[in-house]
Amino acid sequence: MTRPRFDFDKPVNRDNTLSAKWNYVKESVGVEDALPMWVADMDFETVPEVKTAILDRAQHGIYGYTARSNDYYEAIIDWNLKRHGWKVDKNWITHSPGVVNALFTAVRAFTKPGDGILIQPPVYPPFFRAISMNDCKTVLNPLKVEEGRYVPDLADFADKVGSGSVKLFILCNPHNPVGRLFTQEELRVMGELCLKHGVIVISDEIHSDLLFKPHRHVPFASISEAFAQNTVVCTAPSKTFNLAGLSTSNIIIPNDELRHRYDAANDQVAQKSHNIFGAAACEAAYRHGEEWLDQLMSYIDENRRYAVGFIEARLPQLKVYNPEGTYFLWLDCRSLGLGNQELEHFLLHEAKLWFNQGYTFGKEGDGFVRINIGCQRSTVEEALNRLEQAVHSPVRQG
Ligand SMILES: Cc1ncc(COP(=O)(O)O)c(C=O)c1O
Repeated sequence: MTRPRFDFDKPVNRDNTLSAKWNYVKESVGVEDALPMWVADMDFETVPEVKTAILDRAQHGIYGYTARSNDYYEAIIDWNLKRHGWKVDKNWITHSPGVVNALFTAVRAFTKPGDGILIQPPVYPPFFRAISMNDCKTVLNPLKVEEGRYVPDLADFADKVGSGSVKLFILCNPHNPVGRLFTQEELRVMGELCLKHGVIVISDEIHSDLLFKPHRHVPFASISEAFAQNTVVCTAPSKTFNLAGLSTSNIIIPNDELRHRYDAANDQVAQKSHNIFGAAACEAAYRHGEEWLDQLMSYIDENRRYAVGFIEARLPQLKVYNPEGTYFLWLDCRSLGLGNQELEHFLLHEAKLWFNQGYTFGKEGDGFVRINIGCQRSTVEEALNRLEQAVHSPVRQG
């Protein structure tokens, strides 16, 4: 049954909701009226059935320790098969409150202090922290730009992964912040090299449902049985359905030994309990959220086209990378000639825009910003107008 169109243009007031994105602007960045387009949550209400499932569960009034139902697992399994053609077994699914938490757990499970862990900057900042806070060594395989798009540097990857010191590769696919969906061939080359050198792959696929047509997501573990046996796949309904505050993610580990090691690392910090509302929301989202998600991604795709077109036409001195997935734009502002601190200050104080600063994604992000376009079109329009005005202001030009 086709559902009515969801109205993603409708503004939703987020005042006084303890929203990290909206309610602490002054405290966080010192500017009251900076438009928040930073952290990865969206300004849209979730799937109606998710809201109903939470309300139904809340009606009961007892919120004690809780387990996961068979229907919960079935919803995850059906979703992965239908959306990504990946057949998941119930026994492979284990848990984490969040994917970042799972990354830290995986590092503790599969490495010892001093081991090398490979990542591909510019990349999601907690990847760096998961490594450094566990006293491991960060090994960088920066993405490179070829014909205007980011690609993995496979020759460098081969060198680094074969160096003997790398024990783990943390892959970000779809890639935050550059918005690439790596092709099966790119993934295959990296995965084969990891297998050859005994490097375990942690594949952070939290953005795997947020795709622009005709791009497809290839679950890393779906490529071959050998890949499945060497991979920890981090998934969650949180980015897809805007549920980050419900602390519920699903970590899929086909290899029994790796899964036991992961679970043991969770046990060491007594990380066992589940969020009762997160479970209800996750199941309802995967069961009923498909039509909503398809409409959402059409809407964000329009945001993407609008923003990329605007920047290319009216701010041609900036270079925007056209994403294949996620709800981020990665914008190269280096032509403005500002250092990182100056760029941040300019955007907050002159343009009144709160974007994620590129340098937080590694030094490859110096002079860049990440813009969250998971919001009403009117917000995107307002932001780009502010940016254009600030860049063209007589003070800057002078
Ligand atoms: C690549 C990536 N991994 C993990 C997360 C956060 O995951 P969680 O909130 O489940 O810890 C994000 C959020 O933006 C992300 O972009």
